[in-house]
Amino acid sequence: MNQQSKHAPVITIDGPAGSGKGTISQRVADQLGWHILDSGALYRLVGHAAQLKKIHLDDETALAAVANNLDVIFKTNSEGAVKILLESSDVTLDIRTEEVGSAASQVAAKSSVRDALLDRQRRFRSQPGLVADGRDMGTIVFPDAPVKIFLTASAEIRAQRRLNQLKQQGISATLRGLINDIEKRDARDTNRKDAPLIPATDAMIINTDEMGIEDVVKSVLTVVKRVLPNAL
Ligand code: DC
Repeated sequence: MNQQSKHAPVITIDGPAGSGKGTISQRVADQLGWHILDSGALYRLVGHAAQLKKIHLDDETALAAVANNLDVIFKTNSEGAVKILLESSDVTLDIRTEEVGSAASQVAAKSSVRDALLDRQRRFRSQPGLVADGRDMGTIVFPDAPVKIFLTASAEIRAQRRLNQLKQQGISATLRGLINDIEKRDARDTNRKDAPLIPATDAMIINTDEMGIEDVVKSVLTVVKRVLPNAL
């Protein structure tokens, strides 16, 4: 990484599953014309690759090797849509299932997997700036980020949002089942010893229970304007 990239500004957007981080990060990055890091996709890729290679999700040494050798390309087209290629195969949709989400959360609890992905995540930092979406962006990966946001929402609201998304895709699920999945994933992400899901001490916490996506994007951009007046 060159000196300029090292000093590119970063906005970190952390929060639990279903808090709207992905959509909000994308909108903020689009508004600013900045790069984006979807760090959850990297953990999902390790989980997915491990399943394809029939590696047990408890085998930390083998999982770390997968993370170290992850052959992945994030390809952005002219409309800004991102395609994810794992060993040249398009896995953009495959890694979004609940099953891969759960595998991702399990592999993410292994310290050597997190260590293996650290530099890869930091290499996304480049001019004019980076919006980094994840769980530990503000605490571990980019502790010097000038803007840190932590999104929260109740498990019920997040499960309801997920249910609406699945319905639109014609996939059936129950609210109770989704609440259970979300609570399990929250517990695993929050209670792990390494890089747990917690807000950085200097993060701004936004509870999105009563807010639409546009309202949250507006709040984030208001903070950006104040802290980084040249970004907008
Ligand atoms: O954001 P997501 O749902 O795509 O993330 C999938 C899993 O990856 C999540 O349950 C925990 C893990 N993860 C992590 O531990 N650290 C990150 N920075 C991003 C995701």
